[in-house]
Amino acid sequence: MVPNNKEEKSMKLAERMNEIGFALTAGLIIEVNKRKAAGKDVIDLGLGDINFGHPPAFITAVIEAVQNHVNAYTEPGGPSELREAISIAHNQHYSDFYKDKIIQPDYNPDEIVYTTSAKFLIVASALSLANPGDEIIILAPYWPPYIDAFKLPGAVPRICHSTKENNFFPSPQYLNSLITNKTKGIIINTPHNPTGRVYRFKELKCIADIAQKYDLAIISDEVYDTLIFDNNVHMSIASLDNDTAQRTVVIKGLSKGFGMGGMRFGYAMSKNPELITSLKKVVSNTITCGSSILQTAAPSLLLNSIDHVITIREEFEKRVKFSENVLSEYGIQFPKVEGGIYVFADISPYLDRTMPTSTIFAEKLVSETGVVVLAGGACGNDNYIRIALIQDVDMLKEAYKRLTKFINKHG
Ligand SMILES: Cc1ncc(COP(=O)(O)O)c(C=O)c1O
Repeated sequence: MVPNNKEEKSMKLAERMNEIGFALTAGLIIEVNKRKAAGKDVIDLGLGDINFGHPPAFITAVIEAVQNHVNAYTEPGGPSELREAISIAHNQHYSDFYKDKIIQPDYNPDEIVYTTSAKFLIVASALSLANPGDEIIILAPYWPPYIDAFKLPGAVPRICHSTKENNFFPSPQYLNSLITNKTKGIIINTPHNPTGRVYRFKELKCIADIAQKYDLAIISDEVYDTLIFDNNVHMSIASLDNDTAQRTVVIKGLSKGFGMGGMRFGYAMSKNPELITSLKKVVSNTITCGSSILQTAAPSLLLNSIDHVITIREEFEKRVKFSENVLSEYGIQFPKVEGGIYVFADISPYLDRTMPTSTIFAEKLVSETGVVVLAGGACGNDNYIRIALIQDVDMLKEAYKRLTKFINKHG
């Protein structure tokens, strides 16, 4: 008998899926699209989706790859031409402009794995490092997908909170107290999403010392490395010493610095050959490889589009300065934005019985003003909202006008 289509058939999914949701970022995309489709006014400051168009050299290279019918599977970690281009671009810090602003080790092409997105490489790192039940330390506030990335292989996230009082970095004692005999690694992110912090040598050394003491792996998410402002210097934890470099995998990509999130271009770098092989195994047994067209065109993007990267940094510096001035004028507090593309705004003075959480704040804000932000609760701190500076200064001006009107109404 043909089953009735309307009858719902239950399926026994893996238990781990009860623990895992959609990335909140996916929810934000759906919400924004729904509002736009309904013809509603929306100022989207929700996702860190940077879009400055494609540099001309890249457009030409993509067209050429299509015209040349480039269409074969590639090596799982990317063809050698691509890994060489990543290595050159990385080792030269993309350009002279960054020579005093980025401190990191050089990597040769064999120490690099390219694949579809930085995010996938975080999941691949989790799969490579964690057995079910192993614990991973995640510093809060955090980029929300870290949690579920580690739950996928059955690892247990251990959240290490920090607040504005300690400049959003935990004390070494507190960090130490979270280590158990199941702790496998620690994930860090600098420049930081959502706080805008750029970790200093002392902070990186604190992580490195703990990793050394307890033999932990370090996943260092550095996707915002070129988006640093004022006199801040981006230092990779892998640059501290050889031992730290050996236990670290650095995650990078083109979504932020090159403003090309939709290309899904990510790469991992490590001095640890076993980890590199493991990441390639994950890619090989899941997606096989990334798009051959993109991989063929990417070297010209990496090697000829430095102006594009610098233009994006300059534009974000302008938006950061503008936001800091306006929000301070309105009496809204936030940690100084040293790097990245977010303002982490303190909304604790406005939370009350009618608006008790950052999620309700964000929901009311969008329904009453059309301004979309990410609730800080999603990042592990409910006293904040994360404002992604993905609109130009004029649009930000309008968004802040609406935000303050909203605060004055509810405050
Ligand atoms: C801290 C952090 N890491 C990784 C990513 C993901 O990068 P990709 O687009 O390459 O997956 C993001 C994107 O917002 C991010 O903010």
